[in-house]
Amino acid sequence: MLERIRLERLKEKVTTAEEAVKLIEDGMVVGSSGFTKAGDSKVVLPALAERAKTENIKITLMTGASLGHGTDGKLAEAGALKKRMPFQVDPVLRSKINSGEVLFIDQHLSESAELLHNKNLPNVDIAVIEVAYIDRDGSIVPTTSVGNSVTFAALAKKVILEVNSSIPEDVYGIHDIYQAEDYPHRNVIPIVAPWNKIGRKTIPLNPDKVAAIVFTDKHDSPADIAEPDEKTSAIAKHILEFFEEEVRLGHLTDRLLPIQAGIGKVANAVLTGFKHSNFYDLTMFSEVLQDSTFDLIDAGKLSFASASSVTVSAECYDRVFGNLQRYRDKFVLRPQNISNTPGLIRRLGIIAINTAIEFDIYGNVNSTHLGGTKIMNGIGGSGDFARNAYLSVFVTQAASKENKISHILPMVSHTDHTEHDVDILVTDIGLADLRGLAPRERAQKIIDNCVHPDYKEELQSYFDRARERGGHTPHLLEEAFSWHIRFNETGSMKKA
Ligand code: COA
Repeated sequence: MLERIRLERLKEKVTTAEEAVKLIEDGMVVGSSGFTKAGDSKVVLPALAERAKTENIKITLMTGASLGHGTDGKLAEAGALKKRMPFQVDPVLRSKINSGEVLFIDQHLSESAELLHNKNLPNVDIAVIEVAYIDRDGSIVPTTSVGNSVTFAALAKKVILEVNSSIPEDVYGIHDIYQAEDYPHRNVIPIVAPWNKIGRKTIPLNPDKVAAIVFTDKHDSPADIAEPDEKTSAIAKHILEFFEEEVRLGHLTDRLLPIQAGIGKVANAVLTGFKHSNFYDLTMFSEVLQDSTFDLIDAGKLSFASASSVTVSAECYDRVFGNLQRYRDKFVLRPQNISNTPGLIRRLGIIAINTAIEFDIYGNVNSTHLGGTKIMNGIGGSGDFARNAYLSVFVTQAASKENKISHILPMVSHTDHTEHDVDILVTDIGLADLRGLAPRERAQKIIDNCVHPDYKEELQSYFDRARERGGHTPHLLEEAFSWHIRFNETGSMKKA
């Protein structure tokens, strides 16, 4: 293990997680690696959760995105979290956020590093970063994600490194570490294609800041891969048919444009659908790479993928990280303020496909809140991509829970993406292309194409009555949230 510390003088910093965690004090801001379960702290943050069981210690925790191994839940359960940002998916933490015990800042994933560099957030006291190894100059080689680690390494007063021996050292070279200059001297970020590499292979780190080094051999938590089902397959079919039509019309070529796909079963089903399509030489410019990315590479359909993390099943993890020679020129991992940079998303002309919790008849999208009040996960990168994409696609099932919930509503109970940022809406029922449509036209298209049959008549009636009252975007304010209210009172959005 010691050979993974190539800067001799740092070897004396090796200690246990239990000792290292004593560096973290009550009230500190901690910045940790980890992005959708990939490259997270496997031993130091869990040791903090243990310590917090018997000691009053509360921190502000910033990461790339969500953590694996139930670590967010363990920290929340032990009362170790005062504030958390920018994203989470843990059921225990979620309930603590919704009860008000933990404060959560739901941030665009491109933005946290910017806010830190611009001093619009309190500085990081201590960083905890998983690495494959420490190079001779003290710089560090990240593992399965980059996330916000470049910023944490640059700004934190002290750094704890977790050297993970389960990651092969030949992971060196799959990362492209680039940090944009601070304002007002920022230059153009010179990426004009997903495969462009513009930075270094390691994260710069001042060795004097390294306060402790711990070892682990724990793997990332595997991703849960849900096989495509009837609904997700129907959604995927509508999207693929739409792309084929765009090619026929001469708007796109068979290579499409670089694709961003949110995590989860719908994105997986869409990407799996590409395997049996006529599209080829596809590329991705996304934030997370899932199993389907590597399946498409193996099928010869996808030529290159750029992201900030690899979050895959155990089988795919072994396939990729056990055979890096086969994949190393096929993908790159970047800091999340580069993978999700709005300017690059606009420049490259991304096709962004993300999942909605609900959308309304005008195309406003709620990605984050149930019933307008309870956070589910967070906005993640969906806003970075949706607003700036060449095509912004949102998908959801038309209805769920034995059709007691309609996912298309008169008005969304929380807005993450406004109608101005949304081009295409898709449910298992059908697809609505909203480009070039005014609000009244959008509403009719959505009702005609996307709504579950159990709710179509009532939604049409709402729109017809609202239209009679007038307005550019007609609404009946006294009724706009009646479906949500009915669901809260009766357990169903359907009229009795
Ligand atoms: N009241 C109560 N429950 C509701 C509801 C309402 N008004 N509307 C939806 N729900 C429920 C659904 O019934 C479903 O419940 P279930 O999980 O028990 O079946 C749940 O909310 C939503 O789950 P589902 O439709 O299966 O969506 P998902 O698992 O595909 O996740 C998001 C959808 C939006 C939560 C997820 O994609 C996300 O967090 N997105 C934001 C982040 C993001 O987009 N990142 C993009 C880049 S990775």
